[in-house]
Amino acid sequence: MTIRKILTIPDPLLRKKSLSVEKVDKEIRNLMDDMISTMYDAPGIGLAAVQIGVPKRVVVMDLSKNPDRKKPMYFINPEIIWKSNVNSSYEEGCLSIPNQFAKVERPDKCHIKYLDYEGNEKKLEAEGLLSTCIQHEIDHLNGVLFIDYLSKLKKDMIIKKVSKDKKELERVVV
Ligand code: NI
Repeated sequence: MTIRKILTIPDPLLRKKSLSVEKVDKEIRNLMDDMISTMYDAPGIGLAAVQIGVPKRVVVMDLSKNPDRKKPMYFINPEIIWKSNVNSSYEEGCLSIPNQFAKVERPDKCHIKYLDYEGNEKKLEAEGLLSTCIQHEIDHLNGVLFIDYLSKLKKDMIIKKVSKDKKELERVVV
């Protein structure tokens, strides 16, 4: 398991639509292992493969927020098959948009289908934080970021801030 570099905005790859996984094999499982280590290291509660530069429809999540009781979840080709009309809002953040948070409204409940770590077909009925998180991650697979739900003004402000922080950081590193 390798901790990989997480891409941050405005990296253009984050806007790319990820491709479906044809076969759940060793390569995909290695990718998921790297993703989960990278996510725990960050730390974060969800990560899409494209965020480490691999535009494939793979997501990992762990909402337990407890390093001693890890509950890793793996989703391959996740697809929303139903969502509720009722919305809920959470203060969202994203490992690709460091240190920025904003309230985003999304359907409170959703049902998804996906393939698990072994490649078996699964369904999941999600609500609350789980529902929000899986929708946020599926958005990544379609090149969509949480800032896309904000006003243009707020979105531009966040992009500017993150780009500026990134440049400053690079200056220190170099
Ligand atoms: Ni994210």
